[in-house]
Amino acid sequence: MSHDSSTETIPAHGDVPRHVAVIMDGNGRWAKQRLLPRFAGHRRGVEAVRSTVRACAERGVRFLTLFAFSSENWRRPAEEVALLMQLFRGALTSEVDKLHRNGVRLRVVGDLERFDSRMRTLIGQGERLTAANTGLTLTIAANYGGRWDILQALGRLLRERPEAAQARIEEAQLAPYLSMSYAPEPDLFIRTGGEQRVSNFLLWQLAYTELYFTETLWPDFDAAALDASIASYARRERRFGRTSDQLEEAKRAAPAQASATA
Ligand code: IPE
Ligand code: IPE
Ligand code: MG
Repeated sequence: MSHDSSTETIPAHGDVPRHVAVIMDGNGRWAKQRLLPRFAGHRRGVEAVRSTVRACAERGVRFLTLFAFSSENWRRPAEEVALLMQLFRGALTSEVDKLHRNGVRLRVVGDLERFDSRMRTLIGQGERLTAANTGLTLTIAANYGGRWDILQALGRLLRERPEAAQARIEEAQLAPYLSMSYAPEPDLFIRTGGEQRVSNFLLWQLAYTELYFTETLWPDFDAAALDASIASYARRERRFGRTSDQLEEAKRAAPAQASATA
């Protein structure tokens, strides 16, 4: 399945974003505030994942993408990395059946070669089991980096179609090789925990995404916090380089069809 890029067409803009991408940040600070080890924050973070998946599905979000572990997070103390891997493995073991029963399609994106074979097997099993589900598509970005994604896409394009190197490479040629080519570009990006940066998350795909930052720490993120972010999204005017007048005109010309082509 391919999707129009927001850099060319105006995607439909309903009040509910089709694709929400989240940097789940602030677990460590949540724990520190309570004089608990950082890991306690990560554990509570898994609960926030559960409730966010449920709330997104209920609200009609089609794609939810969660940044669980960045390619830079290996720089953390070995003990924290090991505990995060354990948590990820545990969640894969215990949650996949429930996701499947709820019609969720699970995908994991990132450089999976860095994970051990047990983890890769679990990921493969979860993806295969849920592949035909038609509900929410939940993508977990693990050992993911936006720069890695662009480079792996370019590498695969050139390996599969070496002749592409002879001419100028078009955006539309690269897009199918990006790791989230099955999804439309995110409509809404949420970062919890107060930092206002992208931290090497979906760099290519965020080109025209609406950005939303909240001080709420990830373990405290709940349905009400999600609704606040969606309400903010619903108030935005997505112009994609055009003028407000042009958007109004397109709406008048094709009122039934929310998605107008330039
Ligand atoms: C986000 O929370 C979780 C991961 C990066 C895995 P942090 O662990 O970054 O929490 P803070 O930023 O230290 O509070
Ligand atoms: C970003 O969080 C990565 C994830 C949430 C998985 P970090 O807390 O690692 O981000 P930086 O390094 O502080 O920007
Ligand atoms: Mg952090």
